Amino acid sequence: MWNELKQDISYSKFYLKEFLIFSALIITLITFLIGNFDKILITSLIVFSINFLSIIYLSRKRRNELAEIEKIITNIRNNFYEVADEIILSENLSSLEKAIKLMFEKSKNDIEYMRKLQRVRSEFIANVSHELRTPIFAIQGYIETLLNGAINDPKVNVNFLEKAVHHTNNLSNLLNDLINISMIESGEMQMSFRYFELAPYLNSVVEELKYLAEEKNISLNCQPIREGLQVFGDKERLKQVLNNLIQNAIKYTEKGGVEILVEEEKKFVTIKVKDTGIGIPEDQISRIFERFYRVDKARSRAVGGTGLGLSIVKHILEAHNSKVEVKSTLGVGSEFSFKLKK
Ligand SMILES: Nc1ncnc2c1ncn2[C@@H]1O[C@H](COP(=O)(O)OP(=O)(O)OP(=O)(O)O)[C@@H](O)[C@H]1O
Ligand SMILES: [Mg+2]
Repeated sequence: MWNELKQDISYSKFYLKEFLIFSALIITLITFLIGNFDKILITSLIVFSINFLSIIYLSRKRRNELAEIEKIITNIRNNFYEVADEIILSENLSSLEKAIKLMFEKSKNDIEYMRKLQRVRSEFIANVSHELRTPIFAIQGYIETLLNGAINDPKVNVNFLEKAVHHTNNLSNLLNDLINISMIESGEMQMSFRYFELAPYLNSVVEELKYLAEEKNISLNCQPIREGLQVFGDKERLKQVLNNLIQNAIKYTEKGGVEILVEEEKKFVTIKVKDTGIGIPEDQISRIFERFYRVDKARSRAVGGTGLGLSIVKHILEAHNSKVEVKSTLGVGSEFSFKLKK
């Protein structure tokens, strides 16, 4: 009890200046009103005492409030709360309670976001190492076998060298994809937007990939496009998008073929890459744009995929203020489309 009073008095020191000014003001006022100097001493004493008691009372209130706030802060520091609603202050501190709750939620979200980034980064590094290991081990294996004598065996030497080259190409494609992703993420990817004519551009992209379809005995066609139709975008980057989409369509189609369609709207042109391939399960459509995501890992790797293509496509189209739409039916085929400004 005495200790508490001592603490109250010591808190009251912070308001000493206000206390003295306030008391002096009241005493002056009373002196002026009463006009009787005999009573001044007694009146001053009463005013002084009342003021002193009120200041002690207020100090105690304030000390309790500060203790309450301090407790909440300590609890937050010790991760005592799971959710913001567990933070409760007395009613007169309700606006502070609201502010602390908002701060708590923000820092919780920030931490969650940072944890997620950390997780994504670790997963990314694990995926990259895993993907690099496959071709490097294969190349190593072929070269060592050749050095151990197979080089003089005409039945296998050329075949092994060809396989080693195949894996070198995979390695080089993977590195290119990684360079692209890192450029996109660091904001270093320079885009150069301009108008260009769609028909010759699309036809040449398709022409360059024809051999892939021929190798698989499927068709690859581009529907006729109106002459003079211009679209706005970065030609080089869009070529990457089309290459990825068309190569996917060819890779994941065994019979039938791939068709490129162009639909003209008032302000936009929609480019569609449609195939009659294996299709994508509905619940996985939203995931195929994630880095390294493949619906069927084994199958994808067998046809030379690392699962980076569509994530690059997504980023490039986002830079064009566009996005990829996907329609797909398992066993029937898929359609990837995106819009470009006219
Ligand atoms: N046209 C398609 N038909 C069926 N599945 C597809 C098609 N396009 C993409 N996919 C699925 O989406 C996954 C992700 O595609 P993405 O292009 O990102 O990777 P990838 O083709 O496996 O490898 P990469 O493009 O890096 O060489 C593929 O592994 C495949 O399972
Ligand atoms: Mg791909």
